[in-house]
Amino acid sequence: MPSAQQIVALIKSHVRGDEERFYSLVLQLAAEEAKRGHAVVAEQLRELLEQAKSPRPRVVYSHGPVPVPSVRSDLATILSVHYPKTLLSNMVLDDDLKTRLSRIVHEQRQRGRLKSHGLNARRKLLLTGPPGTGKTMTASALAGELDLPLFSVLLHGILTKFMGEAAAKLRLIFDAMIEMRGVYLFDEIDALGAKRDSDNDVGEARRILNSFLQFLEQDHSDAIIVATTNHESLLDRALFRRFQAILKYQLPSAALTIEALQMRLQSFDVSDVDWQTTAIEARGLSHADIMAAAEDAARNAILDRGPKILDSDLHGAIAARRNQSHVDSNG
Ligand SMILES: Nc1ncnc2c1ncn2[C@@H]1O[C@H](COP(=O)(O)OP(=O)(O)O)[C@@H](O)[C@H]1O
Ligand SMILES: [Mg+2]
Repeated sequence: MPSAQQIVALIKSHVRGDEERFYSLVLQLAAEEAKRGHAVVAEQLRELLEQAKSPRPRVVYSHGPVPVPSVRSDLATILSVHYPKTLLSNMVLDDDLKTRLSRIVHEQRQRGRLKSHGLNARRKLLLTGPPGTGKTMTASALAGELDLPLFSVLLHGILTKFMGEAAAKLRLIFDAMIEMRGVYLFDEIDALGAKRDSDNDVGEARRILNSFLQFLEQDHSDAIIVATTNHESLLDRALFRRFQAILKYQLPSAALTIEALQMRLQSFDVSDVDWQTTAIEARGLSHADIMAAAEDAARNAILDRGPKILDSDLHGAIAARRNQSHVDSNG
């Protein structure tokens, strides 16, 4: 057994971080134990020493440089946060949108380089277009591509619960942007301005929209601000000028409809599907409807026969979706 003195010396060298001394003390111990005939203990000590000397495994962080933030309690009712895994490659986008979104991601990744030349990466984006074309999903994809948290602004929390203090709540959000870089999503922003003409409380709605425009204009944070609207025509022209890029979403073409169906049905046998006629059937449906119809068709196929999709599955599911969205938009 090692003496009390040896133990103290061992601990001392460890506390001081003196690895050389620590190793030589352990070697000494191993030699003494061997001399006393304790071959097993001596071998154990030598082995431990070998392990200690080999390079340590590096700590691997699962996230990027931004730590997982939590939302302060005063923000919890108006801001929710998560880290999306969505990427732009998970989306079906026309060439123009694909190019423009990739460009924005590229600018953000290179924002240091741009800054050193007195330039700013664009970060105030307005996405317009019909429902179900991927505007909300784009905010997730931008966060996913840049490994940033997505902060979703709960507009209804601002408008209904805190009607009188909406501007104060908006300020909290714009303050948060300075503290926490991320993608800040103001989804369906028309809620802020749309009712202005019909609403009784015209003054209040006007004030909220004006504060939003003011905050947007004054904002010099590094945050990426994504606002979306399904009703471009309801928005004030003044709002458009405050954004650095306006991205227009459209219902998918036949080619993109096929791309969407094929993306969703990747893991199924689609060798018998006639894509052209299916795309014609799906004309006028949004990406969201098409994805959902593909899923309906796959569910039916599995229950009826197995993972082989037929035209009849798809055409039936598409017709059902079309009826569903008519009901939704008339209701
Ligand atoms: N362009 C797209 N590419 C792939 N999937 C899409 C696309 N657009 C919509 N989707 C699917 O439909 C869902 C709803 O779309 P969303 O982004 O909420 O549409 P929007 O915000 O334009 O109304 C998405 O979560 C996704 O599953
Ligand atoms: Mg949306």
